[in-house]
Amino acid sequence: MSRFRYPQPPPSEITPEHVYLSRRDWLKAVGLAVGTAALAACAPRALKPASTAPAEPVPHDELGDPATPYDIVTSYNNYYEFSTDKRAVADRAQGFPTDPWTIEITGLVHEPLTLGLEDLLKRFPQEERIYRLRCVEGWSAVIPWQGVPLATLLKAAQPKAEARFVRFVAVYDPEHMPGQRNYQTFPWPYTEGLRLDEAMHDLTFMATGLYGKPLPVQNGAPLRLVVPWKYGFKSIKAVVRIELVAEQPATLWNTVAPNEYGFYANVNPQVDHPRWSQATERRLGEPGRRPTLMFNGYEEQVAALYAGMDLEKHY
Ligand code: MTE
Repeated sequence: MSRFRYPQPPPSEITPEHVYLSRRDWLKAVGLAVGTAALAACAPRALKPASTAPAEPVPHDELGDPATPYDIVTSYNNYYEFSTDKRAVADRAQGFPTDPWTIEITGLVHEPLTLGLEDLLKRFPQEERIYRLRCVEGWSAVIPWQGVPLATLLKAAQPKAEARFVRFVAVYDPEHMPGQRNYQTFPWPYTEGLRLDEAMHDLTFMATGLYGKPLPVQNGAPLRLVVPWKYGFKSIKAVVRIELVAEQPATLWNTVAPNEYGFYANVNPQVDHPRWSQATERRLGEPGRRPTLMFNGYEEQVAALYAGMDLEKHY
């Protein structure tokens, strides 16, 4: 008598998808970049030059838009320490020394941290995030970043109960940064700030790489903040100090022109800049303009942070 045998179920029914698919396939399936992304963060110097790397499929953001080509993302930059001419920044930034690099997490914390960049890469696993970046000037890009959620770093330093804001300080190196010598009306170094709950939000990211390669200097090497629902000027480059503070900190752009650049700087198509509309934007590498989305398309994730706030007043 033959024994009844249940037909073998396909592997997808007995094993969660992410286990039976290879890691590479799974990363692809969830939309993360593969291979080089992790490698870039762990061993930047072991990477092959771009020209010999195998072609990867173009990543897309969760709205279905393709990432802005690498060449554009790395050749059209705002970085006043080097130049006010976006197309000159990459060239002027060549050779800027980013190794060794030390980052301090300090202020109102129980465990102040001083980390070399290598220690940071070893201690904290690198993740990939594909984010839209919307500059206050009206252009935007989609960028695949590698890095660490800021919350992971802040938790390691254990913020004290009195900490309510986070202040970010960029490097001060006038010898290598011509803008810090030439634009003397700017209160260098570049500084930025977030409310602590904004800083702890899962979208808030410290990037160490883009497109699976270590961050180019012009994009903020070796470590820059990325806050995707805020105008790009909040995403401070070349960070050396993260300080937990009790009061809202002064920030560079808010000090220079407080009526044009608010502390919150949330992307908002309904609140115009005093000198231009914020209703639309130009996606780098694409023709025409597209509507700007509330909170840059991250409304569902972040609107609750601002419940009850007048967004016209707190621009
Ligand atoms: N960070 C520093 N240190 N200096 C700067 O001039 N410019 C900001 C921000 N971070 C800036 C900075 C502005 S205005 C924008 S739009 C983004 O960086 C641009 O980032 P990207 O060049 O990587 O696109």
